[in-house]
Amino acid sequence: MKAFGEIWESNLFQKWLMAITGLLLVGFLIGHLSGNLLVFMGPDAINEYAHGLRTMLHGTAIWIVRFGLLASFALHVTSAIKLARRNRAARPSSYNTVEHRASTLASRSMLYSGLLLLTYAIYHLAHFTWGAVHSEFYVKACPPSPECTDCIPDVYAMIVSSFQQPVISVAYVLAMIMVGLHLNHAIASASQTLGLRNRRIVPIVRTVGPLLGILVALGFSSVPLAILAGIVK
Ligand code: HEM
Repeated sequence: MKAFGEIWESNLFQKWLMAITGLLLVGFLIGHLSGNLLVFMGPDAINEYAHGLRTMLHGTAIWIVRFGLLASFALHVTSAIKLARRNRAARPSSYNTVEHRASTLASRSMLYSGLLLLTYAIYHLAHFTWGAVHSEFYVKACPPSPECTDCIPDVYAMIVSSFQQPVISVAYVLAMIMVGLHLNHAIASASQTLGLRNRRIVPIVRTVGPLLGILVALGFSSVPLAILAGIVK
């Protein structure tokens, strides 16, 4: 038991934990982005998709995904904070190499962009999942009635009416730029932790990270921007 505790607390294990949970979250983001882009195909496409997700495996699948996401988020954030604290404690009082300074700056900005993303994720859940903020745009697919046992949100109406408000759209686009910046360095960092330092792999990783960051930021931002421009209504 003590050995397990020591392994769990080791820097190496915490780095692996952060890399693996981070990659799982990237997988979720890519899936979520593909679902969101269905908004361009009209209300039926995205609402049927949302309904399919909620009813898959008699409603169990969405809870498995939610549990996995919550666990990944929690482990990712706690290991990031733990490693940042240890790094700070171990940092020499004077920096003597440019490389050291650059890596500290990159990991520190990852911590801050990550914490901003956590704030965004809570706001986003309160908006689209719980209907606790901007509740005037939380539209149900059918009017409340005792017969309606499957009354899920009208995701299309909810997205369009929310993003017709410039303040909400701008907040989302800023958050998506933050997601892109976080991903920009995340892939390189995870591949280094997982030992992918082969001379042929390194240039690929250095291209994939920033490219993924740009595609994810642009892809997610295209939804509020298209609604604000009146292309999707
Ligand atoms: C413009 C960008 C985005 C839009 C329009 C959007 C839209 C939505 C909508 C409509 C839902 C509710 C789906 C439903 O009730 O069926 C949702 C859920 C969710 N979104 Fe997003 N999303 C965006 C970006 C993101 C990002 C960047 C993240 C991750 C940091 C994220 C994480 C989540 C999570 C965790 C859920 C909850 C899934 C659940 O119901 O358990 N979203 N999103």
